[in-house]
Amino acid sequence: MQHSEPSTVKPSVAIIGGGLCGLGIGWRLAAAGCAVDLFERDKVGRSASWAAAGMLAANVEAEPGEDLLLSLDLESQRRWPAFATELSAVTGVDLGYRDEGTIVVAIDRDDAEALRFTYEFQKGLGLDIEWMTGGQARRLEPHLSPGIPAAVRCALDHQVDNRQLVVALEKACRAAGVVIHENTPVTAVDISGGASGGRVSGVQTATGAHRADVVLMAAGAWSYDIDGLPPMARPPVRPLKGQMLGLRMDPRAPIVDHVVWGPGIYIVPRKDGRLILGATVEDKGFDSDMTAGGVFRLLESAWEALPQIEELPLDEMWVGFRPTSRDDAPILGPTPVQGLVMATGHHRNGILLAPVTIDAVSDFILNGAVESAIEPFGIGRFYKRDDDQSSNRAERRA
Ligand code: GLY
Repeated sequence: MQHSEPSTVKPSVAIIGGGLCGLGIGWRLAAAGCAVDLFERDKVGRSASWAAAGMLAANVEAEPGEDLLLSLDLESQRRWPAFATELSAVTGVDLGYRDEGTIVVAIDRDDAEALRFTYEFQKGLGLDIEWMTGGQARRLEPHLSPGIPAAVRCALDHQVDNRQLVVALEKACRAAGVVIHENTPVTAVDISGGASGGRVSGVQTATGAHRADVVLMAAGAWSYDIDGLPPMARPPVRPLKGQMLGLRMDPRAPIVDHVVWGPGIYIVPRKDGRLILGATVEDKGFDSDMTAGGVFRLLESAWEALPQIEELPLDEMWVGFRPTSRDDAPILGPTPVQGLVMATGHHRNGILLAPVTIDAVSDFILNGAVESAIEPFGIGRFYKRDDDQSSNRAERRA
């Protein structure tokens, strides 16, 4: 665990971004006695936090070469039930937390081979997942396609209604005294004391300057575009577009209860009857168009796993922008600029990583301690070997 100077005086904090990181950390800091101003370019919680599917899929999304990230994912997943219970108790908002678990299905024999390979890899990591025949999977979810040859189940990969989550966090923030400035983009961070390093003194917005002891960068996919940061403190984060669809089931007779993954698709049933289909993965900047091809592939892939979707009304379609860092892992904690703190770059895992991000980053701002869980995820990892070359690469990639 790293330590910086502890202080008994509570810092004033300016938060850039009103997604669930900004809201969650704002809530914790205001509850601890900090004066917190949160600046959101649009309406709070209506970007990636709203667009997401709310899967807490630490296990089935585990990929090769991401051991440190997997540890962080599992740690946050462990914290989710207590976090949800606390937030619901404080706000009275039902977060739609569901613990039926997740089933990953193969559509044909080739998929089953690929699924077996992934299963062996994830099992080798010690993850708590279970191989199933198609028949066993259909006994759990009778509307799965009869052609499914095999599946993997993870009872620990739960889900939460991310839209209820941001409603709850906004309520908790306002009750704790966070001053929320909507439709107020931050244009620059004010830093005194040199081109690299130095100390923050506040932020610039369209409506003027705002002074603060601490500035939290939680602007998601927009984090790279805030001016005033020296190269070593500019997060290499870019938008990664995802198209999604919302179908409507009868909540009294849902066609599925588990989260279901198939090739190119995830299907997430909500308590209120919504059935979320996601998502495309497109490196197209802030292109917000829904496309015929994207919608076609989502519907086709979902239909192959769960043919009964054919009968369901299509209520909603939307595009979200994942905040994706250069190595697909989040950027958390202190920076070379005193008082500038990061909570951004969560890529596909923003909802899953909320509890550990909110706890650890708040703790750092309040106590100056970097929790060991987030230590590997500092911004310094992008600039370790050769600062100039790395920052040039960040310029090109972000
Ligand atoms: N976590 C799911 C996605 O990013 O599409």
